[in-house]
Amino acid sequence: MPELRGVKIAGLGMYAPARVLTNQQLQQMVDTSEEWIVTRTGIKERRLAEPEQATSDLALLAARQALQQAGVQPEELDLIIVATNTPDTLFPATACLVQDRLGAKKAGAFDLLAGCTGFIYALVSAAQFVQTGMCRYVLVVGAETLSRIINWQDRNTCVLFGDGAGAALLAPAEPGRGILASSLAADGSGGHLLSLPAGGSRQPASLATVEAGLHYVHMNGREVFKFAVKAMGDSALEALHRAGLGKEDLDFLIPHQANIRIIEAAAKRLGLCMDKVLVNVDRYGNTSTASVPIALYEAVAGGRIKAGDHVVLVGFGAGLTWAACAIRWD
Ligand code: ACO
Repeated sequence: MPELRGVKIAGLGMYAPARVLTNQQLQQMVDTSEEWIVTRTGIKERRLAEPEQATSDLALLAARQALQQAGVQPEELDLIIVATNTPDTLFPATACLVQDRLGAKKAGAFDLLAGCTGFIYALVSAAQFVQTGMCRYVLVVGAETLSRIINWQDRNTCVLFGDGAGAALLAPAEPGRGILASSLAADGSGGHLLSLPAGGSRQPASLATVEAGLHYVHMNGREVFKFAVKAMGDSALEALHRAGLGKEDLDFLIPHQANIRIIEAAAKRLGLCMDKVLVNVDRYGNTSTASVPIALYEAVAGGRIKAGDHVVLVGFGAGLTWAACAIRWD
């Protein structure tokens, strides 16, 4: 087998809608308190898309910024993967809408569904195309308008989520730089713990499903929490191991932003102090597939990740799924 090419993240982009929903505002909407939300989740506010904005609108803005940062033209793209749980429509794929609006005339495009782990799954998938030489430039986007699938009367879920988008442009790199190794995992037996029950082929949308609220996110928070704490640590360690690294080699962690307590538990397991971990869950809540690329964007833009650093991206989500990716930042 010929030697695989290296693959690196050559550009990043993000978009967070301007509209802010604070915990104080949520207190007026459901039986909750600022204190409960902050102590149990670490979330202080989240962003909401405007009614006229769909997921592809957010994705497009993040994608344009990633392309611009990398100095790559849309016509140079070979492939676009959009990871999302909230596509504009079940079909066509949101990636095709982004492909058209970017003017990426020679790019293939598809959506990828892996819960909140979707961005890491998409990044690892995209990397294979670059490593084998099949593609030169691949755009990976994580974008969500979760506000559209949340029951705003359910305090168990409505305080947790927010809208946003993040994007990464993948390009060839020297072998041994950029993405070093990854770990993808799934356990479908836990699928019922976090799901959107209706609107698919099992329970097509009907008056009855809408009346029963089955088109909203349903979650067993306590069970997801237990799973997440274990999955984040396991996954990050596995990706490091596959890269031939130990936790002492890790310089910076980009965790999925769902709950500060889950992030702190992962950091502890990896022996990292919190100043080596990007935390923005306080400002955006859980933006699902957008959370990892937004966090990575902010870490790089803030100068917290430098060339040569060993960085791990790690996440978990519906499926159940969990994954991590070890990178030598180039
Ligand atoms: N305000 C006030 N009280 C609340 C709220 C709220 N917003 N939400 C729940 N409660 C109550 C519960 O009803 C419960 O009351 P009870 O004891 O009378 O039944 C009590 O608070 C404690 O509930 P717990 O579930 O034990 O609270 P916990 O400390 O586990 O925190 C939370 C709940 C924040 C949901 C936590 O379990 C969590 O973060 N889980 C992971 C969720 C997650 O990450 N989901 C996203 C996955 S990624 C994806 O793919 C979308």
